Amino acid sequence: MSSTRSPLCAVALFAFVVLVVAFSTRNWRSEDAKKTLLEELRARQQEILPFYPTKDGDTLSGTSAGSDVDAVACSQLARMQIAALLGSGYTKTVVQALLPPGPSVALKSVNHRGSDMRQCLEQFHDPMGCHQLVSFKLKKEIILLQRLQHPNIIKLKGHCQDGRTGRGITAILEQGTPLEMIQLLQSPWEERFRVCLGLVRLLHYLSQSPLGSVALLDFQSRQFVLVDGELKLTDLDDANVKEPTCQSDSDCMLQFPLRNFSFHCSEQRICEGMNEMRNLYNAYRYFFMYLLPHQAPPMLQPLVKEIMNSTGELKKGIASTLEAFEEILHIFKSGHHLENLPPLVIRDYVAVRGVSSVGSVNYRCWPSYSHQGCVLSVHSVTEAADICRSQPQCSSFTVQDQRTWTGRLLASFQSSFSHLVPDVNSVVYVRKMKASLVQAL
Ligand SMILES: Nc1ncnc2c1ncn2[C@@H]1O[C@H](COP(=O)(O)OP(=O)(O)O)[C@@H](O)[C@H]1O
Ligand SMILES: [Mg+2]
Repeated sequence: MSSTRSPLCAVALFAFVVLVVAFSTRNWRSEDAKKTLLEELRARQQEILPFYPTKDGDTLSGTSAGSDVDAVACSQLARMQIAALLGSGYTKTVVQALLPPGPSVALKSVNHRGSDMRQCLEQFHDPMGCHQLVSFKLKKEIILLQRLQHPNIIKLKGHCQDGRTGRGITAILEQGTPLEMIQLLQSPWEERFRVCLGLVRLLHYLSQSPLGSVALLDFQSRQFVLVDGELKLTDLDDANVKEPTCQSDSDCMLQFPLRNFSFHCSEQRICEGMNEMRNLYNAYRYFFMYLLPHQAPPMLQPLVKEIMNSTGELKKGIASTLEAFEEILHIFKSGHHLENLPPLVIRDYVAVRGVSSVGSVNYRCWPSYSHQGCVLSVHSVTEAADICRSQPQCSSFTVQDQRTWTGRLLASFQSSFSHLVPDVNSVVYVRKMKASLVQAL
């Protein structure tokens, strides 16, 4: 009996020892994980502290807008109706919320299904702790949105702790539409230039912001939205507010997949100007390269080429780049780039004022402001007449009082129409050979 019992005892004892070791290792490991998580939480807290206007403040101030009429109070959050999912990323989820009679807003909160949350749970198995950790990114974004205010940064209308969903911190933002590069590529040059100009104005502001020179580490089109055609930065949690520190010039390398740039390590041991240049090169490779050269007005092409050259090689900083963009805008608005247009081209058309055409047979042109027909922006009726002359299908065009963001007129080109109706805001220009048709109407 004892001979059969002793091996059993040995096995049991062995199993017991294994269990105790496994249990204490697990305990030790979970203690270790807890410590690491606490350290990470502390580090995130430390990271955002310098952004507060007062040294001791670690709570976010009421609303970004203060007495701003746009401000939305947290009490209003309970009455909001969630209408649609606007987008989500590794860290955050954004939904559209309706608050009649005001405009709808975007609510940003932690994405509990995002990669940030998932990775944290895999490492720490602590839902509460992970929620806190990921929330710090949204807190950082809120405080940065409060401190950095610019027409090309999304407007923070308010923020709430433990909002209606009970899902922690919520940022209330003006609503935009996600920036779709494919869609932008098909839009008129004027709109694409607007996006690039907005980006350059934003980067100029960030290079000398109240917090210092800010680098956007995660610089992709999905971090921006459009509000009425204007580009706005919405994702700020990966912004870096300090210039990198260094010991020597070799520490100041900017590395991109196809290019490297080196910078100077200053006496203060920082890579001076590196944040600004990082942003500028990213603007070149993610935006300018796709949006700027294609279909630029012929007379403006040399200036555009110059910008492509100087940003692609980082020959100039953001201030000179902004100047070059503003110069293009000035010329484009003034119409100086059209000085070579034949002025008499308008003589080929009869102007019928106070009417618009009905039953038009439209043809498509590219890139048109309307998918249904050929709608282009023009500086003057002469430019519209010149376009109509160059398009074989065009027999008339209509100019309305609607204008684009640069103040140019919108002209709609047609191949024919059935009749004219009164419309005080519109003038129809008919090619002379077709004018007899109009006299008959
Ligand atoms: N104000 C807004 N209006 C409309 N959509 C938005 C707005 N802010 C963000 N989004 C959309 O939500 C997505 C996720 O937001 P973002 O702040 O980039 O989160 P993450 O840090 O997880 O990337 C964005 O890619 C964008 O498409
Ligand atoms: Mg994002």
